[in-house]
Amino acid sequence: MTEPHVLLLGAPGAGKGTQSKRIAERFGVDHITTGDALRANKGMDISELGFEHDTPGGFMDAGELVPDEVVNEIVVTALADADGFVLDGYPRNIEQAEFLDERTDLDAVLLLSVPDDELVDRLTGRRVCPDCGANYHVEFDTPEEAGVCDECGAALVQREDDTEETVRERLRVFRENTEPVIEHYRGTDAFAEIDGEGTPDEVWDAVADAIESRA
Ligand code: AP5
Repeated sequence: MTEPHVLLLGAPGAGKGTQSKRIAERFGVDHITTGDALRANKGMDISELGFEHDTPGGFMDAGELVPDEVVNEIVVTALADADGFVLDGYPRNIEQAEFLDERTDLDAVLLLSVPDDELVDRLTGRRVCPDCGANYHVEFDTPEEAGVCDECGAALVQREDDTEETVRERLRVFRENTEPVIEHYRGTDAFAEIDGEGTPDEVWDAVADAIESRA
């Protein structure tokens, strides 16, 4: 199999980051995540673009989308360096989807479906490692020692956009902007909808099967 081009779609908290890490490892592809790239550049000065916030972080902490000009640039650079990839968190609106379609083909477009109430529980309970980026959950995926990263020993923190109020806004933005992206890809040969409500291992079995049967 040549290195697959995978797009993972799903609401905030659907498990895109969790499954993307496994995809990158199993299939030997790059994990391209706009969320992580933007978090690493939260304070970048984008005031010359003339939007309501002067940094990516201003949009992120409000649960809004960062302007396409900033995000598309990140993706173009990452795609140029990748043979195979799993895209996580992009595209999030139709303009980004059209931008992507002009630049690459996709072998698998997988939608992780999870009900809203579970999404809120997952995100408000998520804890992340600020040093190595590992993800945990206070109930579903606890570290060996409470509050401490298994991988590197750093103290775990809650992401600033994982408060209930911001999570609800992120879900609203997803419905308005990203559901049209799902409809854009639904019906293509690459598309598959996957039940994201099982355990991470159960979801992974379905994700790996869907990629293997398409790539
Ligand atoms: P981003 O970082 O992309 O966040 P998101 O899409 O909102 O997704 P999350 O990372 O919150 O969730 P996930 O689906 O990866 O779930 P995870 O695996 O962590 O974006 C953040 C912000 O950046 C955006 O709001 C926006 O401002 C900006 N941005 C990013 N991309 C952009 C773009 N393209 N355009 C414009 N702006 C952009 O899982 C969540 C939790 O659930 C974890 O605790 C995990 O342990 C647990 N969990 C996972 N799977 C399971 C399971 N099967 N069962 C039980 N628990 C599970």
